[in-house]
Amino acid sequence: MNNMNKLVIGNFTAPLPIVQGGMGIGISLSGLASAVANQGGIGVIGVAGLGLFEPDAYTNFVEANIRALRKEIRKAREKTKGILGVNIMVALSNFEDFVRTAIEEKIDIIFSGAGIPLNLPEFLSGSTHTKLVPIVSSARAVDLIVKNWISKYKYLPDAIVVEGPKAGGHLGYKLDQLDDEKFSLENTLTQVLETVKSHEEKHGRKIPVIAGGGIYTGADIKKIMKMGAAGVQMGTRFVTTVECDASEEFKQMYINASQEDISIIKSPVGMPGRAIKNDFIAQVEAGEKIPFKCPYHCIVTCKHENSPYCIALALKNAQKGNLKNGFAFAGTNAYRADKIISVEELVNQLRAEYNEAQ
Ligand SMILES: Cc1cc2nc3c(=O)[nH]c(=O)nc-3n(C[C@H](O)[C@H](O)[C@H](O)COP(=O)(O)O)c2cc1C
Repeated sequence: MNNMNKLVIGNFTAPLPIVQGGMGIGISLSGLASAVANQGGIGVIGVAGLGLFEPDAYTNFVEANIRALRKEIRKAREKTKGILGVNIMVALSNFEDFVRTAIEEKIDIIFSGAGIPLNLPEFLSGSTHTKLVPIVSSARAVDLIVKNWISKYKYLPDAIVVEGPKAGGHLGYKLDQLDDEKFSLENTLTQVLETVKSHEEKHGRKIPVIAGGGIYTGADIKKIMKMGAAGVQMGTRFVTTVECDASEEFKQMYINASQEDISIIKSPVGMPGRAIKNDFIAQVEAGEKIPFKCPYHCIVTCKHENSPYCIALALKNAQKGNLKNGFAFAGTNAYRADKIISVEELVNQLRAEYNEAQ
């Protein structure tokens, strides 16, 4: 039995209030996204690095990315009638191309973080199908986005994702904030809910708040929804599923990881990132440089001239199972996985845990 509340975003209603967090460089593609959507959740394609898997990635970067995004959305759509989203990081150099293409392809929802998506509504150009959901790590960012979107576009966010410091991948916090209770998901969520409430009252419309970062069990889902979240965003837990689009070797990194292996790296992109420590990370930390060409500056904030390696290439290598030349991003809970199960089994488990929890 599923007694979780439904998650409503605009005219879309997800019977399962779980957004599968978009995971770039090929970790959440049409396979994982459609499997989650088929279970009643919101499946999300991570668009970062999509073009890297095209044969002309290095000669025709812009076109390769647009083409790959179109293909991936269409592939996912063939496999599900459920709700599908894309995750487009603001920091991507081709952010606008991705947003325009996703809207043209009638994606249901665009999730956008790693920066503040101040101009996102501009690209709707009259389309009413696609919903816009910023990902934030502070109440201040919510305030900024709502005030900007209302004054420039008369548009309210269709929902907000608040991501706490326990998430995987690049994090919207400074290094010293990561273990500071002041910045915990629970504290940030409380502040975001307060800010959102004042905007809801002012504009007479609900803005659902979705919480993510370290949510792992059905009990975690219940706890955070009791605090007022309308749903959760989960990334790490979906990596160790059959349908996750990463290689078997990537998933096994999670299965084999111990808690001590989950560590913070200083990403060339200028944000801290959480990953599973391996020899590649150790080599970089020891000062080794891995030569690379940067034909297209794919992340605006990337200091590629001084970077010891190319993060896009390292993450692509890892996705393909070449972990000698790359590493896996992961949330704080990645070490807890002990086997690979289907998305359906995972959702059933989460429902059972949710129902058992107080
Ligand atoms: C392997 C991996 C890749 C990720 N890539 C992205 C990304 O491209 N864009 C983004 O906004 N978040 C990214 N994230 C964050 C997830 O979407 C998700 O919000 C976050 O991991 C939630 O925390 P959890 O992993 O503890 O569930 C990534 C996370 C992981 C583990």
